[in-house]
Amino acid sequence: MAGLKIAYAGLGNMGENLSVHLANYARANGGSLTVWNRSKGKYDSVKAELGEGVTYAAGDVDELAGADVIFVSVLNDAASTDVVTRLTAKAKGAVIVDQSSLNPKTSIALEQLAAKSGNAYLAAPVFGRPDAAKAGKLIQVVAGNKDAKAKVRPLFNIFARAVLDLGEEVQKGNTLKLMGNALILGVIELLAETYALGDALDIDPSVFQQFIDLFFPTPSYGAYGNKIGKGTFGSAGGFRLEGGLKDANNILNVGADLGHPVNLPTIALAKEHMERAVELGGIDMDWSSLSAVLRERAGLEPFKVKQDEPKQ
Ligand SMILES: NC(=O)c1ccc[n+]([C@@H]2O[C@H](COP(=O)([O-])OP(=O)(O)OC[C@H]3O[C@@H](n4cnc5c(N)ncnc54)[C@H](OP(=O)(O)O)[C@@H]3O)[C@@H](O)[C@H]2O)c1
Repeated sequence: MAGLKIAYAGLGNMGENLSVHLANYARANGGSLTVWNRSKGKYDSVKAELGEGVTYAAGDVDELAGADVIFVSVLNDAASTDVVTRLTAKAKGAVIVDQSSLNPKTSIALEQLAAKSGNAYLAAPVFGRPDAAKAGKLIQVVAGNKDAKAKVRPLFNIFARAVLDLGEEVQKGNTLKLMGNALILGVIELLAETYALGDALDIDPSVFQQFIDLFFPTPSYGAYGNKIGKGTFGSAGGFRLEGGLKDANNILNVGADLGHPVNLPTIALAKEHMERAVELGGIDMDWSSLSAVLRERAGLEPFKVKQDEPKQ
């Protein structure tokens, strides 16, 4: 894809790392990369990483409108709707690849908006944290128009270890993302319950974690088991309760939203525990801090260590 004009909107933890891969790709293939972030101060901190030849949009996001492929990775539905609305007011014939985690209903609305102005919109949420983005090991989910997908597929291969294609119905991309996050939240809930039982009965948490690592050798059990076992819930490199509650609400509502209500009791319970965790320690803790509530209800101190100490 020589000469491809690529753009990236949103240089947060995810977008910054993904832009580095795209900058390398553009340099190697005679293409170009233009990046945009709402807060322009961010440009100073990414310039060294992104390297030569990258253009920094100085004003509104619609400066990206001339690109062939425009990636978006912003915080939430409101931000993505705002960005895509501004982009589609000016762009023509672009493929907008939205890597933000959104409500599936928002994907439908944004696809319609893009189609009206002669652009294509793909729902393209990802699994993996910023460090996985940096290492090029994300799991890329995608749903939407097949010609648009064919155009961007080579770009996914730069930063994803796998691409999961849900077909042409755009809402299915973020539905799969919600299902995946539901599974992770369920794992956290179960780890929290079993750790609370062990803590109440004075079982050495490091030995329990050894069992977990031996019997469930997967990243979610390892990372969240360690946080819960040690009781440290700093949000750096993690996922804040604010995002966890947004996801839990979307997970609980997605069935009804798309015409088939489904009862998800584990997620409802985990949501209730997250709400109580916010009351206990604040919204900025990692979502695995819901485990403090299980300890509280077992008659223990909610937190094993003070949460204002250095975390992780
Ligand atoms: N972090 C993860 O582990 C992870 C994993 C998978 C998926 N995701 C998803 O990826 C997306 C980005 O996550 P992140 O971790 O990169 O978030 P982040 O570090 O908090 O960055 C958020 C980005 O969104 C921008 N933004 C916020 N509100 C905006 C608005 N109203 N208009 C325009 N831009 C706005 C921010 O711009 P400013 O700099 O101006 O604030 C920033 O560039 C989210 O949808 C998240 O759910 C995250």
